[in-house]
Amino acid sequence: MTTSILFVCLGNICRSPTAEAVMRGLAPQLDLDSAGTGGWHAGEPPYGPMQAAARARGLDMSGLRARQFTPADFTRFDLIVAMDGSNLQDIEAQRPAGNGTPVRLFTDYLPEDGPFAGATEVPDPWYTRDFDGTLDLVEACARALQARL
Ligand code: 4NP
Repeated sequence: MTTSILFVCLGNICRSPTAEAVMRGLAPQLDLDSAGTGGWHAGEPPYGPMQAAARARGLDMSGLRARQFTPADFTRFDLIVAMDGSNLQDIEAQRPAGNGTPVRLFTDYLPEDGPFAGATEVPDPWYTRDFDGTLDLVEACARALQARL
């Protein structure tokens, strides 16, 4: 049974905290966290423009703080969900010997007949500046993941 899920992106200030917050709204019984493969923003709250876009949808992310992914996360969580292929590669490179924890792309859960069918990553809004688009896609992925738990 999946009871704990870690969402991972690069900085842990845009995509993965949003995924954590959206998923918590859908499945409050789960043990959820997020992390970044990079540690530059460790200790910081989610990026201001990302928080503002989330807040406009009733999602409060102000209490979250960024942290860096560590190999210990492989044993701490039942499932690790990456936002893009680069995140997934960086996570897999740290897998401890013998560990079998599944690492999946968030977009892998999307239904093939939905509005985001064919998406293979959650694009990074740090670069695209499309914070609402990120929320739309994260919400669709989170609903799809919840339906598969
Ligand atoms: P995230 O976005 O991976 O969705 O949190 C980023 C935030 C910051 C940086 C890169 C991506 N950065 O290079 O500082």
